[in-house]
Amino acid sequence: MSLQTPLDAKSAETLGREFSQFFDNRRVLITGAAGFLGSWLTDIIVQANGLVDCVDNLSTGKRNNLEHLKDRVNIFFSDVEKFSPAGAQKYDYIFHFSSRASPEEYQEHPVDTLEANSTGTRRMLEVARNCGATLVFASTSEIYGDAQVIPTPETYFGNVNPIGVRSCYDEGKRFGEALCMAFFRSYQLKVRIPRIFNTYGERIREDGIYARALPRFVKQALNDELITIFGDGNQTRSFCYVTDTIKGILKLATHESIDGEVFNIGNPHEITIVSLAAKIIEMTQSKSKITYLPAMPDDPRRRMPDISKAKRVLGWTPEVDLDYGLGRIIDYFRKNS
Ligand SMILES: NC(=O)c1ccc[n+]([C@@H]2O[C@H](COP(=O)([O-])OP(=O)(O)OC[C@H]3O[C@@H](n4cnc5c(N)ncnc54)[C@H](O)[C@@H]3O)[C@@H](O)[C@H]2O)c1
Repeated sequence: MSLQTPLDAKSAETLGREFSQFFDNRRVLITGAAGFLGSWLTDIIVQANGLVDCVDNLSTGKRNNLEHLKDRVNIFFSDVEKFSPAGAQKYDYIFHFSSRASPEEYQEHPVDTLEANSTGTRRMLEVARNCGATLVFASTSEIYGDAQVIPTPETYFGNVNPIGVRSCYDEGKRFGEALCMAFFRSYQLKVRIPRIFNTYGERIREDGIYARALPRFVKQALNDELITIFGDGNQTRSFCYVTDTIKGILKLATHESIDGEVFNIGNPHEITIVSLAAKIIEMTQSKSKITYLPAMPDDPRRRMPDISKAKRVLGWTPEVDLDYGLGRIIDYFRKNS
């Protein structure tokens, strides 16, 4: 079967084969399946012969991301908060990935964002409890806020403004984590929590408020437009290529005896935002110049994961370097924008 956007280096077929022992003929529910990470998860689990139900309200996701799989998965266009499985459908795994994820976008829709991560998470935890599924909740590096410990380990409690403009996302995810742990402690539910750091790759949105910094820069560079940096550009991020992130998430989902645990999933290679913009300008041979806009409120100064726990317990480490990954996404946007 051909993918809509195949990956050469680490194809969904290769990853699917690697995880087929866990997903072959198993029932899997993926929320946010029409989005960036959700659609990759869907591809790989279908390749692993999993029987997949997808839920998405298309608020940021695209129907097209699942088009090539429409004969192989069940797709439910619904808000996650309202989704009920048909009949007595049982799942082995639930990946709860539906949430707005780009800072400009979630700040535009703060109530929806809180709902997806609170009421939506509660809904999925109840479904998992009814059928004994393992639930993987997509948390985020943003729960650490403006971290004062770099690289940041899972044991760091965070430095978050609870009423700031980012709190709909940060606190929504923190509440989601707390709810998962409450279900784990009260009902022994099998929950696992990846704290995902900035991920990029094919199918990430590059348009308008949906675009996060890296895809926005690539799009602006390809069009020789001004590259817009919020703040002085000396803030740092660590970017992980999508196949690495997904592999980490699948290892976390399928590893034995780690219920109720959290893992940082990200690439520890830290880069300033201005260096990232310069690299993208160079790689695209763009005529773009950089323009500096006012800093976003509560924007973290540095972000870099400590991934020693994932390395030690899951045997996972990212493999794709930034130059290679950027080359791939530049090619992708050249062909698809
Ligand atoms: N990509 C990253 O760098 C990153 C980093 C940290 C955490 N995450 C988390 O991973 C998950 C997926 O992120 P993504 O990058 O794929 O974003 P995305 O915007 O591409 O995908 C999110 C999907 O969820 C759907 N959705 C949103 N709210 C919904 C709701 N209430 N009901 C049903 N569907 C809904 C959207 O339509 C979209 O298809 C999110 O939970 C996000 O917070 C992503």
